Amino acid sequence: MQIAIDGPASAGKSTVAKLVAKKLDYIYCDTGAMYRAVTYAALKQGVQLDDDVALKKMLTQFDLKFIPADPEQLVIVNGEDITKQIRFPEITNQVSLVSAQPSVREKMTKRQQEIASAGAIVMDGRDIGTTVLPQAEVKIFLVASVHERAVRRYKENISKGIETSMQTLEDEIKARDYKDSHREISPLTQASDAILLDTTSLNITQVVEKILKFIHEKEKNKINWKF
Ligand code: CDP
Ligand code: CDP
Repeated sequence: MQIAIDGPASAGKSTVAKLVAKKLDYIYCDTGAMYRAVTYAALKQGVQLDDDVALKKMLTQFDLKFIPADPEQLVIVNGEDITKQIRFPEITNQVSLVSAQPSVREKMTKRQQEIASAGAIVMDGRDIGTTVLPQAEVKIFLVASVHERAVRRYKENISKGIETSMQTLEDEIKARDYKDSHREISPLTQASDAILLDTTSLNITQVVEKILKFIHEKEKNKINWKF
């Protein structure tokens, strides 16, 4: 099965997708990490973040590797481990500019489809159910209020020793939601056949359980249909 989990920033996609994949023994792919890695490489190489032609050229020399590891997969670009760096605010606040560029989307989508062709997978992002894996058997669209998402990011930052005001976090989340939903190519949107799951008042375990239930129901229906 292919499981697509999409939704806005800090809705809980990667945390939940990782746990679902572990439970089912599926491959997990965090597509946001790919766009973050491209943004990191562009900043490092002085490539303008909205220059599609320059980004396309940069991507011809872009060797991206995901290495499975606990608690999070390692992200290696051109031999450099940038797992931690791609989560820095500098990247988070600029990634939407890069992810809106046509050549970046084309290349990343292709790569994600190749990864998915290897077998059962849980993939999370913004356009998995609509563009990358439109044939996915289970599509979940995770949402939560802006306030709740800012609270989650706030706690996450505090655990890393970073203090950011709630107002700043809410503003950043709103700005990224807007950019991701209004870009021309593959904007963030719920696929018509995706299940909407509002996680505002749900903890991680509750969300994982709900998703596993949807998957099991889908599996049951599949088996019934075959007979
Ligand atoms: O974890 P968080 O929600 O903060 O973001 P992410 O999933 O790491 O994604 C970072 C950025 O990459 C998003 O804000 C989008 O601009 C872009 N992205 C995308 O365009 N398409 C995807 N399938 C995944 C991420
Ligand atoms: O991938 P995405 O940006 O959608 O969100 P995430 O990075 O998985 O989750 C953002 C933060 O919210 C993490 O610190 C999670 O532990 C937390 N979270 C939560 O408190 N409750 C949930 N139901 C889901 C995530």
